[in-house]
Amino acid sequence: MNPREDGSVLHPGQTGEEVQFDRQLRPKTLDEFVGQEALKANLRVFIEAARRRGEPLDHCLFYSPPGLGKTTLAHIVAREMGVNLRCTSGPTITRPGDLAAILTDLGKGDVFFIDEIHRLTPMVEESLYPVMEDCNLYVSTGKGPGASALKLSIERFTLIGATTRAGLLTGPLRDRFGIVGNLNFYAPGELEAIVRRSADILGIPIDAEGAAEISRRCRATPRIANRLLRRVRDFAEVRSEGKITGEAARYALERLEVDPHGLDALDRKLLNALVSKFNGGPVGVDNLAISISEELDTLTDVVEPFLIQCGFMARTPRGRVATRKAYEHLGVQPPSQSLDLL
Ligand SMILES: Nc1ncnc2c1ncn2[C@@H]1O[C@H](COP(=O)(O)OP(=O)(O)OP(=O)(O)O)[C@@H](O)[C@H]1O
Ligand SMILES: [Mg+2]
Repeated sequence: MNPREDGSVLHPGQTGEEVQFDRQLRPKTLDEFVGQEALKANLRVFIEAARRRGEPLDHCLFYSPPGLGKTTLAHIVAREMGVNLRCTSGPTITRPGDLAAILTDLGKGDVFFIDEIHRLTPMVEESLYPVMEDCNLYVSTGKGPGASALKLSIERFTLIGATTRAGLLTGPLRDRFGIVGNLNFYAPGELEAIVRRSADILGIPIDAEGAAEISRRCRATPRIANRLLRRVRDFAEVRSEGKITGEAARYALERLEVDPHGLDALDRKLLNALVSKFNGGPVGVDNLAISISEELDTLTDVVEPFLIQCGFMARTPRGRVATRKAYEHLGVQPPSQSLDLL
């Protein structure tokens, strides 16, 4: 994961091209933000209440697998609160002094967004606690016995943290967020609405069947839906008049190695390894990652959550196991002793 110039992070599976399209396609208001109804309804209340009191919104933590809308929501919250947004990411803040430079620059009620917040160093994280509680930042000056701590008063602001790994957050940090929201994978109908909206913005002709096909095969993830939309358009333009029909979408998705369940090449590689090299498991996730020469982070953050959500793989106390559905999908006979296959 490489921190970019604007402090944002290029996540596993995210392309540079996407960063540019993100700006164009990212919903700007809660009304435009499709799905996540319960979280949206709560945020509406919290935003309205904070605005009426003339106070900053409480600190928010958003967590989910990549591409489900955490960064988008942070932008929306700032906009709905009518404040500025300052973005950075865990790996780019290396010392408490980096925090001081940003925090002293914030106006009252501004949103300070920290992406990949689970990757803050312990020292930076600890210096955040008093800021989140009573707006005091302590920065040490000097070294050795002569060192002292400088106390800086910060305007009240809203910290929004985003993470793909809520489990890696320390308890003290998590406890300091007043609003915690989990974003779930999207339902096909919601994805269809997202695909249609994006096609509209980009001026891509698409029919109902074309939109439905992409929505079914985008790993239930808006970022992937938008990516597939652009790639399918390429095929449609080169092969026919450019309109995305059901047939055009199916052809393109096959060429892109996205199968009818929406599994991509990496998903299938993982399932294949689990079934053929580890006899369906249980196997530790580290071994699984090594067996397909993939980074552990990509496996746990990107690949695994979707396979578990779809019921192709399960997490057990002894390790990951392939489910009956995975064997059926791969067309492989389950081992005979696996009668109790999940
Ligand atoms: N609810 C939504 N409605 C419409 N479009 C959405 C929605 N959620 C996400 N998107 C689209 O998907 C793209 C990716 O979303 P976003 O960058 O907010 O995800 P993220 O959760 O921050 O991912 P990461 O963990 O990789 O940082 C956005 O640019 C936006 O266009
Ligand atoms: Mg993000």
